[in-house]
Amino acid sequence: MSQISIETFWNKIYEANPTQAPNEQDPVLLAALKHFGNIKGARLLDLGCGNGSSSLFFAKQGANVVSIDISDVAIQSLTQLCVENNITNITPMKCSAFEIAELGTFDFVFGSMILHHLEPFAVFVESLKQSLSPKGKAFFYENNALSNLLIWFRTHLVGKYGIPKYGDHDEFPLTPAEIAILKQKFTVNIIHPQLVFFGLASIYLLKGNWHSSLQKLDSFLEQFPRFKKYSYLQYVLLEVN
Ligand SMILES: C[S@@+](CC[C@H](N)C(=O)[O-])C[C@H]1O[C@@H](n2cnc3c(N)ncnc32)[C@H](O)[C@@H]1O
Repeated sequence: MSQISIETFWNKIYEANPTQAPNEQDPVLLAALKHFGNIKGARLLDLGCGNGSSSLFFAKQGANVVSIDISDVAIQSLTQLCVENNITNITPMKCSAFEIAELGTFDFVFGSMILHHLEPFAVFVESLKQSLSPKGKAFFYENNALSNLLIWFRTHLVGKYGIPKYGDHDEFPLTPAEIAILKQKFTVNIIHPQLVFFGLASIYLLKGNWHSSLQKLDSFLEQFPRFKKYSYLQYVLLEVN
C-alpha cells in the first residue's frame, strides 16, 4: 500500500486543526520561558511550529518569532491569524528544519515534538549549531526512546490490532544516540517534568480506562529517579558551549 507524503499527512491534520490561541499556563511553554529568560526583542525560531499556537505565546512575550514548518496549510493558517489580528512580530514561513542556517542567527530556538522527525539527525544538529547565536539557547519538548518496553509496544502493537497511531510513518522517539549527538555540539540538560509511562497504556491499550489509576501509579513511581528517566516525555535544554 502506498504511503502519503509526510507533508500531505500534516496538511490533513492542520486542515482539521486551524491556529488557536495558546494556553498561557501551558507548563511546556512556561518551562521554555524559564530556560530562555528575557525574550523581549529577541529573535526566536519556532521550529516545526505546526499551526503556531506556541509562536503566538512567545510573540505575546515580546519576541520576534520566525515560525517554520513543512506544512503549507499550517503556515497559511498562522499567517491568516496574524494578518487578521495585526500581529507583526511573527514571520510564518514554509521551510524545512534542514534549511534554518539560511534564516540568519537566533537568540532562542523552541521546538515541540519536532526533533524526533529529523533525519539525518547529525546534519540537522550542525544546522542548529550554525543558527544559534554564541549565547543562544534552545528548548525542545520531546518523546523518549530510552525505555525498551515502551519501544517494544510502539513497534509491535501501535497502529495494529485496533490500537491507534497518532504520528506519521517516518517518526521515531528521540534516541539516546541522538542525545549523544546533541552533546557533541551543546551543553545539554534533560528534564523529565513528570513520569509518563503506565498512563500511556491506558490511552493506547485500554481506550482510556483506568487512566487515573495508572497515572497515580506513574505519580508514585516518579519519586524514584531510576524510573523517571524512562518517562516518555522530556524537556531537552541546550546552551551553546
Ligand atoms: C508533532 S507535530 C508538532 C507541531 C507543533 N510543534 C506542536 O507542538 O503542536 C510535528 C510538526 O513537524 C513538522 N515537520 C516535520 N518534518 C519537518 C521538517 N523537516 N522541517 C520542518 N517541519 C517539519 C510537521 O509538519 C508538524 O507540523
